[in-house]
Amino acid sequence: MVPARRLRSRGDDSPRGTLRTILSGRAWLGGRLQSVEIAIDEDGRIASVGKIRTGAPREEFGERVILPSATDLHVHLREPGGPAEAETIPSGTAGAAVGGVGLVGEMPNTLPPVVTLDALHDKAARVAGRAAVDVLLYASPTVARERGALARAAGGFKVYLSPTTGIADAPELAEVPGLLRELASLQLPVAVHAEDPRRFAGRDAPKTPVDWNRHRPARAEEAAVDALLDGPEALRLHVAHVTTAGEVERLRSRGVSFEATPHHLLLSDRSGDDARTKVNPPLRPEPERARLWAAFRRGEIPILASDHAPHPANEKAWPFDRAPSGVPGVETMVPLMLARVRAQELDLATLLLTACERPARWLGQPIGRIAPGHRANLLVVDFRRRAKVEARRLHSPCGWSPFEGWEAIFPEVHYRDGVRIVDGGEWVGSPTGRVVRPEFAFSERPAGSPERGS
Ligand code: DOR
Ligand code: ZN
Repeated sequence: MVPARRLRSRGDDSPRGTLRTILSGRAWLGGRLQSVEIAIDEDGRIASVGKIRTGAPREEFGERVILPSATDLHVHLREPGGPAEAETIPSGTAGAAVGGVGLVGEMPNTLPPVVTLDALHDKAARVAGRAAVDVLLYASPTVARERGALARAAGGFKVYLSPTTGIADAPELAEVPGLLRELASLQLPVAVHAEDPRRFAGRDAPKTPVDWNRHRPARAEEAAVDALLDGPEALRLHVAHVTTAGEVERLRSRGVSFEATPHHLLLSDRSGDDARTKVNPPLRPEPERARLWAAFRRGEIPILASDHAPHPANEKAWPFDRAPSGVPGVETMVPLMLARVRAQELDLATLLLTACERPARWLGQPIGRIAPGHRANLLVVDFRRRAKVEARRLHSPCGWSPFEGWEAIFPEVHYRDGVRIVDGGEWVGSPTGRVVRPEFAFSERPAGSPERGS
């Protein structure tokens, strides 16, 4: 359990020891928005939450809402190997900071891919001194003799069951059970891209997102998930970008962690005709999208993640069948959902669980909750501060967003360890983000939780 440092002996919630600052505003605690004071200690941890009567400097936010910063456990920052016109570690993490994301899980399908300890060390060296927020590095377990060393140095594994950007070959499904057994023994979280390429339709030259959905149909996801569900109990399994309500139901009933992305929740295969909305797995038809969104609203999807996968705008303008798959999203994920909260289409509690608390817990991080002992990675949100997504103002050099013109609420302030890294919606920090790994004390699940892999 997180050590509670709160002392009540003085009749209030004031902590002992030196404080860096006290934030006062409203926060979602105990099932409602209430006025609180959050004391932050000199190490940048939350020291106490409640009424605080010590004399540390105070920052008053009045009616504005203080939230934990989000964790986006699925991003592609394109380093090493580029293309730098799509993203870099500095640009992608600055976008994350401004979008309210304080930790990103960086995927291994870079050039070269992170399949060796050397490649992992190279990527970690690129994060040092260049990242605006913290970064957890996934490795790909395709080289058997490297797996043990990678498990001791990486933050998680990512398994691709189908070819996609940067991944030419995927394991045979027959090899999957053995791989899962070995990964379970290595204990790191394991995220899986679950599409079975044997179920892809052999249609040549798809020309639109509607064709792409037919080419990589939902039954390919279903078949890949079949191969995962009999994995060992100890495996800390997470299924990436689930696109159908049917899969939501199946994974939920089996207690497996999974995510949905803003693009699968908000866009359909008719949201655009060109390759900009080409993505793997594909956008689905509108009725399916609506069912996925309804499941999310009901709190049936445990985790929200962006699968931020930027490509240069000129490549997304290529003929559909040759254009790369993927859409950007790390900077817009939380702002789009805050706008849905404002419109009363989504409960704030659901957003906090899916974007902050659960992804942090899956990655074993002491963030994502306003609670003593957690890092003071916090956002301040003014729900009156409405904006529109404008790609030219986002940090990714890719220069476009599938959500151009959508309503959004960007956080006004973002604290990392109690220090402002975003102020007035602009990144004002220095690149102090570091590489983090799971801390198992923070990956405990509540008693009675059906989730596996604890
Ligand atoms: O559309 C996708 N793009 N899906 C993936 O799995 C990879 C990603 C990328 O890296 O561009
Ligand atoms: Zn991805």
